[in-house]
Amino acid sequence: MAEPLILSLDQGTTSTRAIVFDAHGRELASASRPLRQAYPNDGWVEHDGEEIWSACQAVLREAVAKAGEGAIERVAALGITNQRETVVIWDKATGRPIHPAIVWQDRRTAKTCERLAKAGHEKRVTELTGLLLDPYFSGTKIAWLLDNVPGARARAEAGELLCGTMDTWVIWKLTGGAVHATDATNASRTLLFDIGKQAWSPELLDLIEVPAALLPEVKDCADDYGVIAAALLGREIPIRGVAGDQQAALMGQGCIHPGEMKATYGTGCFMLLNTGEIQPLSKARLLTTVAARLGGKTTYALEGSIFVAGAAIQWLGEGLGLHGGPRGAEALAKTAKPDSGVVVVPAFTGLGAPWWDANARGGIFGLTRDAGLAEIAAATFDSCALQTRDLIEAMRADAPDAFGAAAELRIDGGMSQSQWFSQRLADLTGIPVCRASYQETTALGAALFAGLGAGVYASAEEAAGARPESELLTPSDDKHGRERAYARWLDAVPRVRG
Ligand code: G3P
Repeated sequence: MAEPLILSLDQGTTSTRAIVFDAHGRELASASRPLRQAYPNDGWVEHDGEEIWSACQAVLREAVAKAGEGAIERVAALGITNQRETVVIWDKATGRPIHPAIVWQDRRTAKTCERLAKAGHEKRVTELTGLLLDPYFSGTKIAWLLDNVPGARARAEAGELLCGTMDTWVIWKLTGGAVHATDATNASRTLLFDIGKQAWSPELLDLIEVPAALLPEVKDCADDYGVIAAALLGREIPIRGVAGDQQAALMGQGCIHPGEMKATYGTGCFMLLNTGEIQPLSKARLLTTVAARLGGKTTYALEGSIFVAGAAIQWLGEGLGLHGGPRGAEALAKTAKPDSGVVVVPAFTGLGAPWWDANARGGIFGLTRDAGLAEIAAATFDSCALQTRDLIEAMRADAPDAFGAAAELRIDGGMSQSQWFSQRLADLTGIPVCRASYQETTALGAALFAGLGAGVYASAEEAAGARPESELLTPSDDKHGRERAYARWLDAVPRVRG
């Protein structure tokens, strides 16, 4: 019999893509569509749920067609991964969203979060969810929709509406309304899910004012999520894997054991350290999140999010007018005076972990008469590495045991395509860096979960074996230079705090 294929759907913040993989994790075909961003108000970001659904159908059809004749017959299952926290509410009867989806970046519920924190609820929320009271997460966004769309709260309580992150929305559409489900990694980002008990928390539903009737069933990452009706791809395809995109990338990078960690450098950067069955309580303001739930067994991760990484390199072109895109910026940065003392803190939209300061704004420090654009460009690349060092220090403090075993940081995403930046990252963090040879580790991770759910792989170990090859970059011996750069960074950050 022909070797099985696995279809993967990655519904991301800026695009939706589908990829057909073989069981060795090799990409056979792909298709993608950009996603429109709407900014209807200061700090608001919205997506159109219907546009997402159309894009999902289009990319699945196109990727399968590109994979060639007979490919669909070999597809064992579909895996889904998605931008996390972004949430939509829809009408059960019509299948239409009652409002555009509120995106994870949206800050409209900042006041609600402040009010809850001031009332002393944050400690308990963190204990139950591993998260902080921040508008980033879905819970307060759901409450906002219920309170601001006329009639929504009453309709939700009457059981007429359904709610979900993008995985849930797409699964419901793909199964023709038969399955309303999410997985444990996506649930762990809602602010409503007790990650220890692995169940929606009645206490949090009450606090954040979300009716239980709206919420999906929470399943394992490799599980039965129903089937795609034959009308879409010409034959029924079972949905067997689901995970939030950062957890999918953790799987795609093969980080299934405690101490294994990955960082994905996109617009921002998300770094996750697998802590195994231990659910660490962070003292360094990192998030505790579900890494995966397989066969009913939950493993956890510490997560640090940097809001501005690749976006800082984009700013070099769009904000400072450097020519030639990221490559041009890199070429210029390479000509900078070494150890110039210039520090860029790209806190354009505040600072993420471990600072969590929404009011911080960017700054450039240490300018001397001979510093120019090259030094600023180099310092901007370095800022991504130094923010990673912040996360590494926080993880080392929070999970010394898991971290002790960590040999390397596995990286992927746009910036990891630069060997020069990847080496800077190793030099400035002091940790060996493994640069993945294949960038779509998120889609691959979803395919591996689906392969596990469909029996293509017998174990998570076997699935993780399909991770891409990588190049190992070892840090330079210049410890003093590394510590000097980090000291300058730690001196600069408090100066941009709000
Ligand atoms: O938590 C947000 C994250 O899941 C979004 O990832 O890759 O769609 O920007 P991405």
